Amino acid sequence: MTSQSPKGTALITGASTGIGSIYADRFAKRGYDLLLVARDLERLETLAARLRNETGVKVEVLTADLIDTSDLKTVEQRLRTDASISLLVNNAGIASNGTLAESELGGLDRMIQLNVVALTHLASAAADSFTKAGRGAIVNVASVVALMPERFNATYAATKAYVLSLTQSLHAEVSGAGVQVQAVLPGATRTEIWERSGIDVNKFPPEMVMEVNEMVDAALAGFDQGELITIPALSNAADWEAFMAARGALGPNLSLSSAAARYKTPSA
Ligand SMILES: NC(=O)c1ccc[n+]([C@@H]2O[C@H](COP(=O)([O-])OP(=O)(O)OC[C@H]3O[C@@H](n4cnc5c(N)ncnc54)[C@H](OP(=O)(O)O)[C@@H]3O)[C@@H](O)[C@H]2O)c1
Repeated sequence: MTSQSPKGTALITGASTGIGSIYADRFAKRGYDLLLVARDLERLETLAARLRNETGVKVEVLTADLIDTSDLKTVEQRLRTDASISLLVNNAGIASNGTLAESELGGLDRMIQLNVVALTHLASAAADSFTKAGRGAIVNVASVVALMPERFNATYAATKAYVLSLTQSLHAEVSGAGVQVQAVLPGATRTEIWERSGIDVNKFPPEMVMEVNEMVDAALAGFDQGELITIPALSNAADWEAFMAARGALGPNLSLSSAAARYKTPSA
C-alpha cells in the first residue's frame, strides 16, 4: 500500500476536464495525493491513471453529480471525515447563455445548485475540518464576470459574485485558524464550458481568451503568494488595490442612524 503524502490530499471538483483537470495535474506534480470528483468516470479514470503513472501519488476517483443532493452529501461527508484532505479546489461549475427573461428556469436552478449550493456545502465542510486541524486551503473558482455583471448571463454572473463574496467572508472567518482561502477570477479561458453553454469562444477576440494551462499556473502563482483574490489576466495589481480601497472608503458610511441628505424629504 502506498503511504500517504505529507502534503495531504487535494479534493478537486470538476476534475474530469478543463480547469479542474489542470489543477489535478499541477497538485499531483506538487506531491499531493488526489481525490478527483466529477460525473464522467471514464475521463476521471484516464486522468487518474496518467497522474499515478507520471507522479507516483495516490489518486482516487469519486463520481458524483454535485447537483444531486445525495451525491453532494457523500462528498461533503468525505471532507468532514477524511483527515488526509488538506486542500479543496471548489471548481465544478456550469455557465449559461441568454437573457434572464428567456431562460429555462430549470437550467438556472441546476446552475445555482452547482455553482452556489454545492460550492457552499463543500466550503463549509472543508472550513469546519480545516479549522479544527489548524491547517488547509480552500480555492474557490469564481470568474471576472463577478466584477462586470452587465457583460454576461445574469444568473451565471450572480453565482460568481456569490463565490467572490463568500470567499471574502470565509477568509475573514478562518484565516486566524491557519486556513488559506483564495478566490480565482479567470477571464475567458479555452475549455469545454463555452461549447457546453452554447457559446462559440472562437468568436471572441483572440486577445481575450487565455489557454487553460496558463490560467491555472497563474492562479497557482497567486496561491503561492498567499493572495486572497487572484485575477490571472490583470497586469496591474494596483488597479485591484484601488478598487478595494474605494470599497473600503464606503465602509464608514454604509450603515448610519440618519439617511443621506439627498434622500431627506423636505419638510412640508
Ligand atoms: N472557462 C472559462 O472561461 C471560465 C472563466 C471563468 C470561470 N470559470 C469557472 O471555472 C470552473 C471550471 O470551468 P471549466 O471552464 O473548466 O469548465 P468545463 O471544461 O466545462 O469543466 C467543468 C467541470 O465541472 C464538472 N461538472 C459539471 N457539472 C457537474 C456536476 N453536476 N457535478 C459534478 N461535476 C460537474 C465537469 O465534469 P463532468 O461533466 O464529468 O461532471 C467538468 O469536470 C467553473 O466554475 C467555471 O464557472 C471558467
